[in-house]
Amino acid sequence: MTGPGDVPPDSAADAFSKPGDGPSAAPARTLTAAELAATRGEHVKLADSALLRADELVAGYIPGVDILRGCDFYLDDGELVGIIGPNGAGKSTLLKAMFGLIPVRSGTVTLRGEDITSAAAHTLVRGGLGYVPQNNNVFPSLTIEENLQMGIFLRSSKFGERFDYVTELFPMLGERRRQRAGALSGGERQMVAMGRALMMEPSVLLLDEPSAGLSPAFQDDVFIRCRRINRTGVSIIMVEQNARRCLQICHRGYVLDQGRNAYTDTGRSLMSDPKVIELYLGTLATAH
Ligand SMILES: Nc1ncnc2c1ncn2[C@@H]1O[C@H](COP(=O)(O)OP(=O)(O)O)[C@@H](O)[C@H]1O
Ligand SMILES: [Mg+2]
Repeated sequence: MTGPGDVPPDSAADAFSKPGDGPSAAPARTLTAAELAATRGEHVKLADSALLRADELVAGYIPGVDILRGCDFYLDDGELVGIIGPNGAGKSTLLKAMFGLIPVRSGTVTLRGEDITSAAAHTLVRGGLGYVPQNNNVFPSLTIEENLQMGIFLRSSKFGERFDYVTELFPMLGERRRQRAGALSGGERQMVAMGRALMMEPSVLLLDEPSAGLSPAFQDDVFIRCRRINRTGVSIIMVEQNARRCLQICHRGYVLDQGRNAYTDTGRSLMSDPKVIELYLGTLATAH
């Protein structure tokens, strides 16, 4: 037996063919809760009191080639939100666009209701955004302590207080403060990078694949620490290739596909959504 809900989408873009689009629209089918939540209308309703939000973002690297194609996103105060999706979907590009690192062609980024689209990095850092890129995120020739000092050069009088906060979260950074970052393992460098971003007391941390390239034990450590950081009051956006683990710890998740958000829901609901499993979680989904 088949019904409208059983028709597999040809692509994630199918999720945007909504019922009631008019007589010339594609045949209507019922959207799942996670597809509906990813539509523009629901985003506008749900993002109303968001701490950070992106609306209809269009951005890219090469003239004429849009990577983000009308992307919506929001983060409420206190949330830990994951962004997953296939390689090349535009996840890193979305973080870069929100942090003003690539030109936004249209759309807006808003922090506490204030337009911060394409603002300079130092303005965003002062406003409470911290960004940890996936690669090259430490100064290898500097010591751990010097790396942390670089994180707070805008407010160096607070160094001691912030150093205590960061080394309580990452004791290794205190114990080995005089060691050069270049001599550390990938997992340890990740701690330095996150620690550096936390020195400025951000209200929002943007993390690009914090567990990538780490051994399984270090990966788990990263997820646990992200939870702890979040519990201290820092809202977090985490892009992750380790989709299952990410959704397990997130309040909400977005599935990005071809530069648009295809699905969004609580982490738990996305993990058990048959379409998300089929299209994005693959065989890993049956491992539990
Ligand atoms: N610096 C760049 N210059 C040109 N194209 C880029 C650059 N970075 C990423 N892209 C392209 O943008 C698309 C999305 O990339 P990205 O946001 O890094 O994907 P994801 O993080 O989801 O894997 C890819 O097609 C990629 O090739
Ligand atoms: Mg990426």
